[in-house]
Amino acid sequence: MEIIREIERAARALLDGNLVAFPTETVYGLGADATNALAVAKIYKVKGRPQDHPVIVHVSDFDVFQEWVTEIPDYCIKLAKDFWPGPMTLVLKRSPLAADFITGGQDSVGVRIPGNETALHILRRFEAMGGRGVAAPSANRFGKVSPTTSQAVLDEFQDFFDSQDLVVDGGDCEVGLESTIIDCTGEVPKILRYGAITPSMIYESTNLQPLETESSIRVSGSLKSHYAPNVELVLNQQPVAGDGLIALAEVPTPEGVIRVAAPASTVEFGQQLYSALRKADQLSIRRLVAITPDGDELSLAISDRLTRASNRAK
Ligand code: TXA
Ligand code: MG
Repeated sequence: MEIIREIERAARALLDGNLVAFPTETVYGLGADATNALAVAKIYKVKGRPQDHPVIVHVSDFDVFQEWVTEIPDYCIKLAKDFWPGPMTLVLKRSPLAADFITGGQDSVGVRIPGNETALHILRRFEAMGGRGVAAPSANRFGKVSPTTSQAVLDEFQDFFDSQDLVVDGGDCEVGLESTIIDCTGEVPKILRYGAITPSMIYESTNLQPLETESSIRVSGSLKSHYAPNVELVLNQQPVAGDGLIALAEVPTPEGVIRVAAPASTVEFGQQLYSALRKADQLSIRRLVAITPDGDELSLAISDRLTRASNRAK
């Protein structure tokens, strides 16, 4: 009962033009009605995000997805069938519904059906009330670490939210890394951001080898510096006493080093990465060392995030 009321409240708040932070299987999103220019402007304001960066539209099913886009290639339909609801965003030519304030003035729009039940309930309720889609970037201040718990969202935005804005608690995010973004505007799929839907999964689904070159389309997650903690982060160096360490469990902790995370697999690494970066910020350590995993395709997404997180503008 309590949950139903919470869903109802969240959908209503969105429709009224407020911000609602909600869980997805990847990271928490900072949501607003994607057809309401003022509501979307609030996202940019509280995030401190540049105006020309596009946001992803979240919808509950394929029919609603089709309202936002045009020119859907066959391979895109296959991807949608295989991986939605799930940690994948598809970029297509926009329909008139996708205004400049969503796409950053670009001709394309990114849309996703998230796999998290709470997210889907909110989206369905919102759509039943007449809503068309929820714009939601990750619920962190621009350039900072994405949140994978509702507490992390509160820590980030407590001072920026109005009394009408909401944070819906849905526990820890299952994947912990943002969705794979696939540009579907060309002949073959093109990966704009690595995530849990991997290149070989895309190939299996479509029978097409995805391109992996960086797109000319603006993706804030493709900035060199992003996802950055406040503590200095270095990759693949020998940690010394007083340093923090994030690495797979098989990597031993040298004497005097503070172990921040010891995930047993790359899946766990993805789940724990952002909360580990946040935890490192709360400890008074001089420097954080991360050892990037390799060997499977999820490592691509983890290494990508760690590399950008370590490129903090000095
Ligand atoms: O997992 C996720 O995707 C999370 C959850 C909340 O759904 N959202 C997320 O949003 O990571 P955000 O805004 O932090 O990152 C989305 C990325 C941005 O880098 C944005 O530039 C890119 O998606 N994007 C959105 N629309 C695009 C478009 N039309 N073309 C290229 N990139 C686009
Ligand atoms: Mg983000």
